[in-house]
Order: sequence, then C-alpha cells, then structure tokens
Amino acid sequence: IKLAVFASGSGSNFQAIVNAMAQGELPAVCALLVCDKPGAKVIERAKKAGVPAFVAEPKNFENKAAYEQAILEKLKESGVEFIALAGYMRLIGPVLLQAYEGKIVNIHPSLLPSFPGLDAVGQAVDAGVKVTGVTIHYVDSGMDTGPIIAQKAVDIDEGDTKDSVMRKVHAIEHQLYPQTLAKLFQKKEEAPISK
Ligand code: GRF
Repeated sequence: IKLAVFASGSGSNFQAIVNAMAQGELPAVCALLVCDKPGAKVIERAKKAGVPAFVAEPKNFENKAAYEQAILEKLKESGVEFIALAGYMRLIGPVLLQAYEGKIVNIHPSLLPSFPGLDAVGQAVDAGVKVTGVTIHYVDSGMDTGPIIAQKAVDIDEGDTKDSVMRKVHAIEHQLYPQTLAKLFQKKEEAPISK
C-alpha cells in the first residue's frame, strides 16, 4: 500500500508511522508527505526519512478546490492509495473526499464523539473527566466525525496537567496509529478479489 501522510506540525505521528514501516511492522510505504505549513518540523522529519514532501499553503491558491486539486495531482503522480491525517489542521474538502472515498483516516486526541475540534486534551482536562483517549476514524466532511475504527483510553490522574496528559496521549497515539493502519491494510490484502 502506498500511503500519504498529511500533517501541519511536529509530525511525531508521521515519525511513528515511518518508523513502523522501517521496522517491518507496517506493510506499506510512505510515498508522500503533504504539509500546509512551510517551516513545520514534520518537513525536516520527512527529509531525514527520505519521504518526498509536497508543501503548499492554501492562501496561494484561488480557492480550496484549487488547493486540493494540486494536492490530488501530487497524490496521483506518487501512486498514493490511502491517506492518513496526522495533525493536519484542516477539513478535507469534496475534491479529496471524492477521489479517496473511504480511504482517508484521521487520528484525534480524545475519545470521540467527546471533545472534537481544537485542543482536545485541554478540553478534557478543563472538563475534569477522569478518562480521555485517542480515536482513529474514517474522515468525512465533518470536523472529527466519521466512523470510528479504533479507540484507546488514557487515564487522567490526580496531579496530571495538560502537558502530562498530552505526553500520555502521544505515547498511545504512536502505538495505535501504526497498529491500526497495519490492520486496515492487512484486511485489504485478505479481501477476496471481486470479479
Ligand atoms: C496529535 O495529537 C493528533 O492526535 C492530533 O494532532 C496531534 C499531532 O501531533 N490530530 P504530531 O504532529 O503528530 O506530533
């Protein structure tokens, strides 16, 4: 499977995915990084891992459709079959959703449908919940909606801060994302060939 990762920031999840591939734990290749933030740390990580990066800012395009069309061309050029969003801070629009229907997944740092949107860990800590977690889900046109594929809980203990919860959440994410992708891709290979 040829995978593209979309990311806007640090890219620790991108790194976890690439590492799992290198260790033979994820039977896929990362064919492309798509990044909307020039200067993001994830671009450096891609360079080090030898993953080609397409960096483009939406503001340099006429509209969102044109921006996504440019991404789509790159994806096609690179033979990308599946997309994993990993800290990509934008909604996916109709151009990409239609081209990759059912083939885009996202990771979100809460137990959805609780705490969608920005700063999900901060939201959970502020709400005083004792359990939050990580969700991997298929992407649709909504914000952190779409069918849930996998979830894992993270306890919020006495004395935890937003930073300490964030560290726990990240540690879970870095395991769960590669594992879940591996399961999805395995299922694909096992699926009977329909004629
Ligand atoms: C992760 O917490 C992910 O769940 C959220 O954005 C964060 C990205 O972190 N969607 P990183 O860039 O992978 O380090």
